[in-house]
Amino acid sequence: MRRLIAGNWKMNLLRAEAEPLLASLCAGAAGLECDLLVCPPATLLSLAAMALSGSPIALGGQDCHAAARGAHTGDIAAPMLRDAGARYVIVGHSERRADHRETDADVRAKAEAAVAAGLVPIVCVGESESERMAGRAESVVGRQLDLSLPDGFAGAIAYEPVWAIGTGRIPSAEEIASMHLHIRSRLTGRFGAAGAAVRILYGGSVKPDNAGSLLRLPEVGGALVGGASLDAVSFLAIARAG
Ligand code: 13P
Repeated sequence: MRRLIAGNWKMNLLRAEAEPLLASLCAGAAGLECDLLVCPPATLLSLAAMALSGSPIALGGQDCHAAARGAHTGDIAAPMLRDAGARYVIVGHSERRADHRETDADVRAKAEAAVAAGLVPIVCVGESESERMAGRAESVVGRQLDLSLPDGFAGAIAYEPVWAIGTGRIPSAEEIASMHLHIRSRLTGRFGAAGAAVRILYGGSVKPDNAGSLLRLPEVGGALVGGASLDAVSFLAIARAG
């Protein structure tokens, strides 16, 4: 399975910053052995679609609404992302679960909307630090998967321990491997052979110096990168490690 290295720009970058970053990514993307994806804020989608056209780098959104259109001021529908050139969309990121109180049921509805619009959803799951300390990481993630994934799921999963995001702290290799195996067994248990084909990304403080070892762990099918995706040299170094 080819690894997917995805950059989540979050609420960062203005046009003048995005343009040189996209140009450097395009220049450095040739010959990579992984799939590369960037997920800019919505304001930069059309600029990014133009900059990336003809390159192997795919474009994604950071969230979508569950409805295809309607009276939802400030929200973005999955067909709009598709129309802007996106092929993927992140749903259920822990920052949205926290900032916007998104529930697993909301995330499931968004994932369904994404698939209906022809997008590949990347569904994020992950435990808090207190849940891990209490020995509940696998049960929390298992429950998130059960409730957030639509039937017949065809997308990717991002395992992002909340306490590893933006902190420089990552779980041990054993903890990541064991969580990814747990996620794989939940996926194959529910979806059979289709569950074996789902890419399971790791996210949380992925940097060039830890990417090589993270990406070699069993069942790690790529990375969802925050801070390090805002710098072309770092993001491409992570991609080369994949
Ligand atoms: P960092 O790579 O900055 O820790 O962010 C991870 C993340 O939340 C990606 O979605």
